[in-house]
Amino acid sequence: MLWAGKKLNVDTTVVVKREMAAPIKVVVTGAAGQIAYSLLYQIASGAVFGPEQPVYLHLLDIAPMMGVLEGVVMELADCALPLLAGVLPTANPEEAFKDVSAAFLVGAMPRREGMERKDLLSANVRIFKEQGQALDKVARKDVKILVVGNPANTNALICSKYAPSIPKENFTAMTRLDQNRAQSQLAAKLGVPVKDVKNVVIWGNHSSTQFPDASNAIVNIGGAEKSVPKAINDDEFLKTTFVSTVQKRGAAVIAARKMSSALSAAKAASDHMRDWFLGTGDRWVSMGVVSDGSYGTPRDVVYSFPVTVSNGKWKIVQGLTISDFAREKLDLTGKELVEEKQDALDVCKD
Ligand code: NAI
Repeated sequence: MLWAGKKLNVDTTVVVKREMAAPIKVVVTGAAGQIAYSLLYQIASGAVFGPEQPVYLHLLDIAPMMGVLEGVVMELADCALPLLAGVLPTANPEEAFKDVSAAFLVGAMPRREGMERKDLLSANVRIFKEQGQALDKVARKDVKILVVGNPANTNALICSKYAPSIPKENFTAMTRLDQNRAQSQLAAKLGVPVKDVKNVVIWGNHSSTQFPDASNAIVNIGGAEKSVPKAINDDEFLKTTFVSTVQKRGAAVIAARKMSSALSAAKAASDHMRDWFLGTGDRWVSMGVVSDGSYGTPRDVVYSFPVTVSNGKWKIVQGLTISDFAREKLDLTGKELVEEKQDALDVCKD
């Protein structure tokens, strides 16, 4: 609702103030972890839901982390953020998910030395089964859920399976960090600001089989739009160095920082949720969503596609040409997702 303030005698402008919306409840899991440490500020400062939308933050972590979480709560208070309506720290998923409109599922068990990918999958899908059940019970039915914790795509699928009362379109997995990395690599290669590159696509799984695809990307050079492959004019680079740099970027950050990507992961999670809530226009973004079989991909796995978003609903971009090279990559990452799904469903039976 808009209302006009008083017109001052000395001023010719009319002060128009927007009345604040009611706060929405937003949950972040893994709230005592390193991604959350960056993410919470972005949510509470208005970068995700807009500068007029107050938020009530629900912070979920496991019981042994409650002391650390208390410190995070203190810091949030000390930020004195006008949009932060309240904070609820808890180790109880049903309390954390109660009436939430948005869920950032970041918390997961980290991979320890000597741990096989299968062991990690098994530990983490159990978490997402339990969280799916809790969301089903107490979250709003229109809650938008972003899974960041790995294996993100398969965790999102399992979470959706155990929350049948929430539409499956509301469960997504994060491949936005990969998209941002890809966009940044292309901008550097072309010598343009990152904002001048758009429509790069991440297909498939958030894993080393993902396919970063620049074939439909567009660059703005001197005010004119041009195809990225034409502007770069080096197919070999786009098929090899570009793909492997994006696929291995996470490992490169760990090697340098001795810790995994957190600042950039939090920024990507903010980008994903902001675009989902506020829309993309005709810009494409990559999101892991439950596959409807588009582009010959396996159905009923969470597969990353190019999507556009309007009115809070995502839609897969259709009609793109898939080259033989791309076909092979799309199939490979799809096959991995089908295998992961089977492993995860086996774990959930126990
Ligand atoms: P972290 O280890 O710093 O924090 C994880 C937090 O989750 C810890 O505080 C832990 O206690 C908590 N946690 C564990 N089990 C939980 C449960 N059942 N419920 C609630 N909280 C729980 O890890 P970080 O760096 O914050 O990363 C989190 C996850 O995000 C990891 O799985 C990581 O692999 C993944 N990731 C995904 C990316 C993507 O692009 N999709 C990018 C970067 C990281």
